[in-house]
Amino acid sequence: MRVLLFTGKGGVGKTTTSAATAASAAARGLKTLVLSTDPAHSLADALGVELGDEPTEIAADSLGGLYGMQIDTQRAFEASWREIQHYLREVLEQGGVDPIEAEELTVLPGAEEVLALLELRAQVSSGRWDVVVVDCAPTAETLRLLALPEALGWYMERVFPVERRMVRTLRPVLSHFAGVPMPPDRVFAAVERLHAELADVRRLLIDPSTTSVRVVLTPESVVVAESRRTLTSLALHGYRVDGVVVNRIFPADSGSFAAGWAAAQAEQLAGIESSFGAVPVWRSGYLPTEPVGLPALLALAEDVYADSDPLAVTETPEPMTVERLSAEEFVLTVSLPHADKREVDVVRKGDELVLTVGSQRRVLALPSALRRCIADGAGLRDGRLRVRFRPDPDLWMRA
Ligand SMILES: Nc1ncnc2c1ncn2[C@@H]1O[C@H](COP(=O)(O)OP(=O)(O)O)[C@@H](O)[C@H]1O
Ligand SMILES: [Mg+2]
Repeated sequence: MRVLLFTGKGGVGKTTTSAATAASAAARGLKTLVLSTDPAHSLADALGVELGDEPTEIAADSLGGLYGMQIDTQRAFEASWREIQHYLREVLEQGGVDPIEAEELTVLPGAEEVLALLELRAQVSSGRWDVVVVDCAPTAETLRLLALPEALGWYMERVFPVERRMVRTLRPVLSHFAGVPMPPDRVFAAVERLHAELADVRRLLIDPSTTSVRVVLTPESVVVAESRRTLTSLALHGYRVDGVVVNRIFPADSGSFAAGWAAAQAEQLAGIESSFGAVPVWRSGYLPTEPVGLPALLALAEDVYADSDPLAVTETPEPMTVERLSAEEFVLTVSLPHADKREVDVVRKGDELVLTVGSQRRVLALPSALRRCIADGAGLRDGRLRVRFRPDPDLWMRA
């Protein structure tokens, strides 16, 4: 079983590359599903078929079976999630949480993302597929999607025990007041189920033997710069990028108009090779027509992957490690390729480490040994953040 997610800036060729990779997997005899979480319904256009919110067969003969699907985020589920969200917000405010903070907490999990993740999980665990290729929305949305399982889990673990106690003790009292939200049991049940399902999604998405993310880009400076930030952000959230696809490369012998582009692209390509070089860098040329339909997509996949196996799992560094250097020193290392020192911030908050890189934040639950330590400084070198810890004499003795 293999799950490949494709992301990147808008318009670079994510949908095309996802569809081409899926077609190539099917051509190798693997039963393959390509599904899109992007509300812009372009997967169907790239494949040249109609797609619905159930897997639709695109090609059967001579291939392992290629199916496509467009996740429809406007389904009924959304309404019930909104209900939970609304309810949570009220409960938080009643519980004394600052309204702005409550708003922030409850806004975070977007209905669309939750639905897309649950659908992905359902397809992966159905046992129907050898390969699931995910055509993601542009980077910002994808990062929100991929940060969600952990963030929402964090949030539920904190809110629900508190809320549960409050509800149990206050239920008789609360019911005397009009307008106070009574949490129906089905809300609890829904939240608990969701929590378990999202934990499952997270396990699936960070499983190095199954899942990897690929970043699609074009060799233009603005796109390359954004892609660097994407690699940092994906790593921050614990995801493994096992390749980049550089799409729409002008041929060197382009005519006079494209010659300038070709030269500028060649310069960007050299930069990409040297800075992204830890993972495979695949390339595809700028085609004279839009690659639409299976034959064109298969040809594109040939161009991109040539002799390499599009489904191979590339070894990537561990996203996070903890080492004990001596009795007095632990080091927590987080992979943050391309991160800019000035944009990285690390704050210890109780049993958690809040990591911020630019606009992205991750709240990391500290491993148990480190909870009994004092954070003792951090540094960024060679794309890895190292946070030093030393045992807290008070806590260490008690353990
Ligand atoms: N290598 C290529 N050569 C020419 N056109 C391409 C190539 N890759 C993608 N396209 C075209 O570029 C447009 C955007 O591609 P698409 O895959 O939809 O991007 P994204 O999903 O990243 O928004 C589409 O019209 C697609 O057919
Ligand atoms: Mg697209």
